[in-house]
Amino acid sequence: MIKTTRILAAALLVLAGAAHAAGAPAPRMEPVNADPRDVASLQRGARTFVNYCLNCHAAKHMRYNRLADLGLTEQQIADNLVLTGRFETTDAGVQYVPTKTGETMQVAMRAADAKKWFGVSPPDLSVEARVRGEQWLYNYLLAFYRDDASSTGWNNLVFPNVGMPHALWTMQGAQKLVVTTFAKRSDADAAAIAAKGLALVEPAPGGTFVVKTLAEGTPGAMTPAEYRAAATDLVNFMAYVAEPSKLARTRLGLVVLMFLGVLFAFAYWLKREYWKDVH
Ligand code: HEC
Repeated sequence: MIKTTRILAAALLVLAGAAHAAGAPAPRMEPVNADPRDVASLQRGARTFVNYCLNCHAAKHMRYNRLADLGLTEQQIADNLVLTGRFETTDAGVQYVPTKTGETMQVAMRAADAKKWFGVSPPDLSVEARVRGEQWLYNYLLAFYRDDASSTGWNNLVFPNVGMPHALWTMQGAQKLVVTTFAKRSDADAAAIAAKGLALVEPAPGGTFVVKTLAEGTPGAMTPAEYRAAATDLVNFMAYVAEPSKLARTRLGLVVLMFLGVLFAFAYWLKREYWKDVH
């Protein structure tokens, strides 16, 4: 019984996903080139993450001292990446206790407050890179634009009406939405391809189609190329957080295959030895 209910629930989820995918047109996205072996990129991504994302989002499955994987010492982690702490009442009065490197990446903000401020609580980002995929994440970070109609003042081409403000706007600047109307779907699709970047084709009233793209508005501290590099580093780091032992796992896989290869050579040699007298 329980099994049937589970299967039914799973089928419903799949259907709901398909309906969602069919309902919301997916944007054309830019490719991302994150290299999990690039330790410097992972370190830069970690810095951006703790400075710009951890104020709202936790990564509660990640311990700070695990970042030693990225070639950092415990001291470097404590000095540069642990930015949170809490107030505790002791006999000596109220004291500020910085987060220890053995703790997980929690946020200081309470979930209830977050819900009040943003309408939704910022989700935990521990496995976000696996839930959404690296390309989605990268494009999400590129896709914020100014929107006076939204409560945060921001909107996102990849995640329409998102409740998150653009956390990296000082780096990227504020982009503007550009909407072009076409009479025919094929013309709209062609324009989206020609845009050579993020572009969303949507049906519009009157049987027409609009292509939504983004243009530079107020510049940020970085050029578009620099911002793309920073977003790549951040996605790289988030993919690492989602699966910290991926590199070790693939490396171990190779060692196992090599071992099996050697074992095969010996087994074959033994077989020939045994059968030598028979033939
Ligand atoms: C000011 C608080 C705040 C900051 C800072 C912030 N976020 Fe968010 N984020 C949110 C909220 C709120 C949501 C939920 C939005 C929704 O569901 O509409 C969200 C949603 C997301 C999502 C989508 C989750 C999903 O799959 O539905 C991703 C990915 C994300 N944030 C990544 C980041 C990254 C990366 C950073 C750092 C660069 C960051 N956020 C910084 C508040 C924040």
